[in-house]
Amino acid sequence: MVTKTTKAKGKVTAAKKKVQSKAKASSKTASQRLMEMEEKYGAHNYHPLPVVLQKGKGIYVWDVEGKKYFDFLSSYSAVNQGHCHPKIVKALKDQADNLCLTSRAFYSEALCEYEKFMHDYFGYDKVLPMNTGAEGVETALKLARRWGVVKKGIPNDKVKIICCGGNFHGRTVTVITMSDDPSSFAQYGPLTPGFIRIPYNNPKALEEALKKHGKEVCAFIAEPIQGEAGVFVPNDGYLKKCYDLCKKHNVLFIADEVQTGIARTGKMLCSQHDGIRPDIVILGKALGGGVLPVSACLADNEVMLNIKPGEHGSTFGGFPLAAKVAMAALKVVKDEKLVQNAEKMGKIFRAEVQKIKSPFIVQVRGRGLLNAIVTKPIGKKTAWDICLKMRDNGLLAKPTHDDIIRFAPPLCIKEAEIKKAVAIIKKTFEQMA
Ligand SMILES: Cc1ncc(COP(=O)(O)O)c(C=O)c1O
Repeated sequence: MVTKTTKAKGKVTAAKKKVQSKAKASSKTASQRLMEMEEKYGAHNYHPLPVVLQKGKGIYVWDVEGKKYFDFLSSYSAVNQGHCHPKIVKALKDQADNLCLTSRAFYSEALCEYEKFMHDYFGYDKVLPMNTGAEGVETALKLARRWGVVKKGIPNDKVKIICCGGNFHGRTVTVITMSDDPSSFAQYGPLTPGFIRIPYNNPKALEEALKKHGKEVCAFIAEPIQGEAGVFVPNDGYLKKCYDLCKKHNVLFIADEVQTGIARTGKMLCSQHDGIRPDIVILGKALGGGVLPVSACLADNEVMLNIKPGEHGSTFGGFPLAAKVAMAALKVVKDEKLVQNAEKMGKIFRAEVQKIKSPFIVQVRGRGLLNAIVTKPIGKKTAWDICLKMRDNGLLAKPTHDDIIRFAPPLCIKEAEIKKAVAIIKKTFEQMA
């Protein structure tokens, strides 16, 4: 029988429980509460390192508890100029006060200026502005296919593009068709036809594919360094050999410089290490100065003018804010000599990291400020655990493909800061042993 007293007792325990759970909730850190929110309300399409960021300046970021970190990911190389660069933020704010969006139904002063600016900066006849890297890649594939049909005379249903094993070009359905990583393409239904995949860093494989299919191939697409694959740097001369083969078979060479472009590897474009000028260059990430999604395809008229008005576009592609931000972002790269700095700091970084002795370290590799440590797990400790420990020690980096840790700080980093960061990396490996 439920008496008045037991009822009252029940009420007291319920109230007590409520108070306890409130206390428990409030004993959580702000980071924990925010991460739970994301877990509950955000799609689970990423696996972030557990750190919740709130503020960024230059090469540093701060979490919601106020702890400061070296940012050694730079948003996958989108923040080459450093977080919240004052000149880039000013360009954004000034334009935001004036005119944000026109669509391409009308001309905009900012876009006209940007197009001329891009021509002068990179030396291609024309720019086709888009927003994300994947859209830039899609655009390049369309440009190449259209050129293949119109200029090379390949029947529309026969056009082929050669891509490389281990590639990462983005996440749209056509783009994931090129991937050989099941976590990119599996269970997304029928993919896009017309791709031939060959091993990366293997000019012989390209030669054979071109001998066999050359008449139907419109383009070869490659990353000058495979970033997501774990900063896989091809042999010197690989790109040049591929470029020459493409020329021999009347095939376009597309360089996906979304991650490697804009000074990251110690040249403005990574293809320049091999002295080539690709037929189509895809840019993204740092083109937006770490502020906006801005991407672009660069090509000459022979390629660009085959797409006619109304046949390709994007509402936000080349919008006035993006145009102004991209110009400011590229000016900063030149004014602050970020190409030269990436080259110099990269050498120092690799030399210092190579001195670290740890059973976890298999290889140190990279170019400019796009570098990686290839690790091997010891017992149950993996690259993920190393990144957690680096976070505790004040440096943020993230594993790719389980065992490779990419190190890509903003390109404005100075020698003393590189040395401090390497000291953290060293200490972390010592603590892991
Ligand atoms: C080489 C390369 N291409 C394309 C992309 C896709 O860019 P986004 O994520 O902006 O679509 C990436 C992103 O990491 C990339 O590294």
